[in-house]
Amino acid sequence: MPNRLLTEHAEFKALQAHRDSLRALHMKDLFAQDPQRAEKFSNGIPGLHIDYSRHRITGETMDLLMNLARACDVEGWRDKMFSGYPVNTTENRAALHVALRRSVRENLTVDGENITDYVDRVLDQMKKLCAGIRKPRKFSDIVNIGIGGSDLGTRMVHRAIQHYSDGPPYLHFVSNVDGAALAPLLKTLQPHKTLFVISSKTFTTMETLANAESARDWLSFHLGEKAIDDHFIAITESESKALALGIKPENILPLRDWIGGRMSIWSAIGLPIAASIGYKYFEELLRGGQAMDRHFCEAPLEKNLPVIMALLGIWYRNCWDMRAHAVLPYAEDLTMFTAWLQQLDMESNGKRVSRDGRELDYPTGPIIFGELGTDVQHAFFQLLHQGSDVIPCDFILVKKPEHALPEHHAKLHANALAQAQALMEGQADKERPWRAMPGNRPSSTLVLNELDPYHLGMLLALYEHKVFVQGILWNINSFDQWGVELGKTLAKDILQAVENKEKIKGFDSSVTGLLRILQAKS
Ligand code: F6P
Repeated sequence: MPNRLLTEHAEFKALQAHRDSLRALHMKDLFAQDPQRAEKFSNGIPGLHIDYSRHRITGETMDLLMNLARACDVEGWRDKMFSGYPVNTTENRAALHVALRRSVRENLTVDGENITDYVDRVLDQMKKLCAGIRKPRKFSDIVNIGIGGSDLGTRMVHRAIQHYSDGPPYLHFVSNVDGAALAPLLKTLQPHKTLFVISSKTFTTMETLANAESARDWLSFHLGEKAIDDHFIAITESESKALALGIKPENILPLRDWIGGRMSIWSAIGLPIAASIGYKYFEELLRGGQAMDRHFCEAPLEKNLPVIMALLGIWYRNCWDMRAHAVLPYAEDLTMFTAWLQQLDMESNGKRVSRDGRELDYPTGPIIFGELGTDVQHAFFQLLHQGSDVIPCDFILVKKPEHALPEHHAKLHANALAQAQALMEGQADKERPWRAMPGNRPSSTLVLNELDPYHLGMLLALYEHKVFVQGILWNINSFDQWGVELGKTLAKDILQAVENKEKIKGFDSSVTGLLRILQAKS
């Protein structure tokens, strides 16, 4: 029957009963009983290996999880997404970020537009713009102005593969409306050598518009208003709003409503990456994403990496009541990865009603957090090892170092493997309980061959599909984000009140009191 809640599936009830039978089990016993365990619970595609043996699972657990995935019609929903069906039900929109990496059929149309033609046209426009921007000595700096999905993906990818950069133009990011983000950057820039890229799907986002207007004023002050023609590019679905800011039509790259903000790195939103390190690397990123799409569409569920990762997440969230998930890249260049993933995962699956509006009686998206290993071993790992919450972890390792100190790599990897082992095995100490570690704490270990655009593309698409599959099992719409709207509206009202002091009324006493304090002369 379609549209069942997770808890209405007999397959979920079977999984809960199975969980009861595993309560007393310790993973270290499973390892002791079966020397082939890691082999049995590992899988990969060329360039990416995942070891998921350090989980509270047996072969039966995986069978039951697969039964649940089938009962929830994961394959059917996957095919719907790839075929342009409006999976974003509350906005009646398709979610076709996979089309941006050419993973849909050639003749697919949405609202009468051939999707492949659109993608080719925009890539061509990006390529031409890049060639102009990258002309020797034209621009020394590019500033991406955008926030959320119009910032995080670009920022993360750029940070991850910036070792491909061969000199200017150098890329900067301004997202926060706090003037402390833009003002000091402007001091370092030469107006005639600076390009601003205004990235905003809606072109209504307060933070982005405030920063874009200040950047435009700064440029006009130094070079005159006419200079906006050569120094501003917009990436948006709303051409009219970009024109109103003074950006010329040839410099506006069009987005479509089927490109969700948090999945938009594959779209024209990625232009600053292509412009700063070279268009061909952007194409490589798309190719990596496409390789993961192929795997997601073709591999049987039992071998399907995003599906396995998604099901393990459901297992812990819904059968063991684990509330958080730590993502721990042991790769300095992935320093922005978790920040990107937080938006992808929590904006997608931080939901409490089903696709048809029923209140759920089970929890959905966990709290995603994490930072770089080894740094965080000296910060929150104490809680991971001995805290009262059990928090499943993803360790992300990169096989090939991208720097001139390869001898550090063995130490880096030894630390990651040691932490995963310690979490799983724990340590007994009856005499000194404060030293005892319970172990039995789950983790997956992902190994990427290298951190190049291709492998990075694979990694990003892996997590995108994982989040999608979880949304299907939870029976939620992973593609809307109504929860962020109320705060935006209230901010506009409060701003109006701040700008026009006599109107400070109609707010609760806390807002009113704080506004008075913030506005007091002293
Ligand atoms: O934070 C909410 C949100 O709507 C995100 O979904 C989006 O990525 C971000 O704001 C930025 O939106 P825009 O690209 O329209 O400026």
